[in-house]
Amino acid sequence: MADLDDIRDGDNFGLNTPADTTSFYLKGMNSMSWGIKNRMSRIFNRDSGRTVMLAFDHGFLMGPTSGLERIDLNIAPLAEEADCLMGCRGMIRTSIPADNTKPICLRTDSGTTILTEMNHNVLIAEEDAISMNASAMAAMLAIGDAATEASTIANFSRLVDLGNKYGIPVMGVTAVGKDMARDARYFGLASRVCAENGASIVKTYYTEGFENVVAACPVPVVIAGGKKLPELEALELAHNAIQCGAAGVDMGRNVFQSDKPLAMLRAVKEVVHNGAKPSEAIEIYHAG
Ligand code: 5RP
Repeated sequence: MADLDDIRDGDNFGLNTPADTTSFYLKGMNSMSWGIKNRMSRIFNRDSGRTVMLAFDHGFLMGPTSGLERIDLNIAPLAEEADCLMGCRGMIRTSIPADNTKPICLRTDSGTTILTEMNHNVLIAEEDAISMNASAMAAMLAIGDAATEASTIANFSRLVDLGNKYGIPVMGVTAVGKDMARDARYFGLASRVCAENGASIVKTYYTEGFENVVAACPVPVVIAGGKKLPELEALELAHNAIQCGAAGVDMGRNVFQSDKPLAMLRAVKEVVHNGAKPSEAIEIYHAG
């Protein structure tokens, strides 16, 4: 216990240095908790304000798809080059070394597969996400799907409640129903629904008019890569999205199904963080 007669008056109040009241560097995050901001800072580069997430959650829907036959061999070696790893708990626990220091965006919903009616998902226990030191939790919303829209939005809202309680950002993943028009109107609506329900990050798909999708979404938007494209086209996709204001990518098949996944990841990073043109970034791919 300090001596009562040795209480020294403070004399270093930094009166010439006002408290920092500048905004947090990511849009929509000012009113979020310290925990959410801190975890967002692990995912989004402070200088660029963007991220290159590596998605390998596909197996929970479609099994050992091409490029994901062995997560330990296909994905673990790429981890150092990614800004964030997005996958399911079983594959991360079994196949990503626990000394991994990259933030984890944990797929926190689970349900049906491509063999049946999709999107009847439930949430995994939040304790498990916390035990895996998740920097973000991701769940899918099937906007526009009559059978599962309500239940996936309810799942998502519950996940946001849990994320707010524990300071973990939640990423809304917009699943596109087969009858949905893949246009800016649809993606704008789906992304906005994620944000309205409390998402800290929205994952959606690039489309013409994407600047409106991004503008109407008050939190960072990242794009999925979609089906495998020739590398230059995938870099153009990323570049177009960034030009429209996207905060990065959460890319899967266009990285892990590439002939040179590590080189492709480096090329995508050059586009996302340094604003490289696709014609410049493809040289990084070719050199890799
Ligand atoms: C739909 C998803 C995918 O599982 C995946 O993350 C998408 O990645 P990509 O389209 O780049 O392969 O988001 O739930």
